[in-house]
Amino acid sequence: TAPAAVIVGIDGPSGTGKSSTSKAVAAKLGLRYLDTGAQYRAITWWMLSNGIDVDDAAAVAAAAGKPEIVSGTDPSAPTITVDGADAAGPIRTQEVTSAVSAVSAVPEIRTRLTELQRSIAAAAPHGIVVEGRDIGTTVLPDADLKIFLTASAEARAARRNGELKGKNAADLAATQAALVKRDAADSGRKTSPLAKAADAVEVDTTELTLEQVIECVVTLVEEKRSA
Ligand code: DC
Repeated sequence: TAPAAVIVGIDGPSGTGKSSTSKAVAAKLGLRYLDTGAQYRAITWWMLSNGIDVDDAAAVAAAAGKPEIVSGTDPSAPTITVDGADAAGPIRTQEVTSAVSAVSAVPEIRTRLTELQRSIAAAAPHGIVVEGRDIGTTVLPDADLKIFLTASAEARAARRNGELKGKNAADLAATQAALVKRDAADSGRKTSPLAKAADAVEVDTTELTLEQVIECVVTLVEEKRSA
């Protein structure tokens, strides 16, 4: 008989290598891949495009059900659309990055996306790697494996800067400040904050290469599968 579907949740702050690790692990193991941060960004992009004040929690809550968010879960080519429009580019703008913590703190937004994320995970034939902030604690508390990635703020800022082409050393301090501010907002909110689940395996990636982190997580999944 075919092995049962395996559900993997990968949480942690930004700049820990979550997305690169999650995609690579899913591709290596033949699993689907879901970037829940992209969904929070997509709904934020819709709010900004529709003139909704993201700091008005009541207005954000009232519109929470309006946009249709569709995530494509192929790890080699993940996609995201909002009302049928490709959102992959617009969700990575500075405008969206600055607004996403406020939108994702609204309980109605979290309820809506949590339901969507659970249904996508349940539909994955061989299993899925789901990355985010509250996957192990809230979205998939029964996941087969929970990983919590960490890294020093310095390492995370350096990686983020490396992703943004043309940045120089002077931008590093600004990147680090923005990243620390977003982590504080994501960790400090009332509804399912960024947190390590009690049964998650913590992996500190500060001194590890991406390949080492991928190898570590693949080994952990294989151990679970054969247990
Ligand atoms: O992983 P990312 O940087 O693309 O996530 C964008 C934002 O979305 C992040 O600042 C916090 C929020 N988020 C969340 O609240 N819960 C998740 N499961 C994933 C992301």
